[in-house]
Amino acid sequence: TTQRRHASRQRFAAEFSQCLFDFVVQLLPTQEELAVKEDVRKLLERLIRTIEPDSRLLSFGSTANGFSLKNSDMDLCCLIDSEDRLSATDMVTMLGDLLERETKFHVKPLPHARIPIVKLSLDQSPGLPLGIACDIGFENRLALENTRLLMCYAMIDPTRVRAMVLFLKVWAKRRKINSPYKGTLSSYGYVLLVLYFLIHVKNPPVLPNLQQIPPLRPISPEETNLNGHDIWFFDDIQLIRQRWHSSNTQNVAELLIDFFKYYSKDFPYQTGVASIKSGQLMKASKGWQSDLDSPRYNDYRERNRFCIEDPFETDFNVSRCVTKDGLYTIRGEFMRASRILASRPERAIIALAQLCE
Ligand code: CTP
Ligand code: MG
Repeated sequence: TTQRRHASRQRFAAEFSQCLFDFVVQLLPTQEELAVKEDVRKLLERLIRTIEPDSRLLSFGSTANGFSLKNSDMDLCCLIDSEDRLSATDMVTMLGDLLERETKFHVKPLPHARIPIVKLSLDQSPGLPLGIACDIGFENRLALENTRLLMCYAMIDPTRVRAMVLFLKVWAKRRKINSPYKGTLSSYGYVLLVLYFLIHVKNPPVLPNLQQIPPLRPISPEETNLNGHDIWFFDDIQLIRQRWHSSNTQNVAELLIDFFKYYSKDFPYQTGVASIKSGQLMKASKGWQSDLDSPRYNDYRERNRFCIEDPFETDFNVSRCVTKDGLYTIRGEFMRASRILASRPERAIIALAQLCE
């Protein structure tokens, strides 16, 4: 019977893997959508340059990291190369006025937000059946770098990593656990959980740790310092792909099953921190434990329920928005997914449908 169980498990995983790929392919943005988005970026860049001639408008987030779904929003970052640039607050106000005058976008400037941004949206059109949503921020160079890091990981093992991440993003959206404003986790957070699992939990690992591979030539700390954060990572992906071969041969379904199992019952939510740079850390050693217990910091109490360290801003907990209820819901969803997959329904497609119900 053990043998028969093993065979049945393998059969299910093979079929489920295929289902996952078929499913994920349909979710990718079309060439047309990508082209329209690039046109929008260029148009906005041209307009911004009428305010700041030395500026560039760059994509980050899913449109630039290889984890984009159909109709995902556009994250744009404006970099200004001149010395005496306007403040982000002023830029947001001026750009908001300009876009309101010159374009058909719905414009919402948020000059006084913690990170000042202009929010834009465009109604649907033939090329964009679902319209467009876009945030423009300023000088967010760390986000550009973490986007590049995620893209490099996506490129090392495009089949398994991308399928897993894309599936998880859709799953989290369908299960409604992808709203930092409502106490659950951002897409960025979910991507970090997948990478943490593939780099540090899986043995043998599916991905190398790019932040711990030393540079080929000596590099001074200043070169890799951005606002006091070490942004070094090994980004020569050609070379990595030639030299680094994972001895982990699990297919994407097996990895996903283990992923859900791990975050259902093995990840130490109470005490642990998931860090893609350093592996598993302790909340206590980062000073992220105390907030939970101290009644004095009432506002902050919720902040460190769930801890995911940002790869570069290591003092920043990416999941600080996750509340007690949010974490309870997320963990419940990991368990639900794990249960569905463990039950191995007759047809893998049924498992997939149930998961994303
Ligand atoms: N980001 C960040 N810190 C966070 C959240 C986001 O630096 N706490 C940056 C990251 O560069 C991330 C980008 O903002 O890649 C976009 O985040 P998010 O919208 O969560 O991820 P996407 O991959 O764009 O997902 P979606 O397709 O759902 O928009
Ligand atoms: Mg985004």
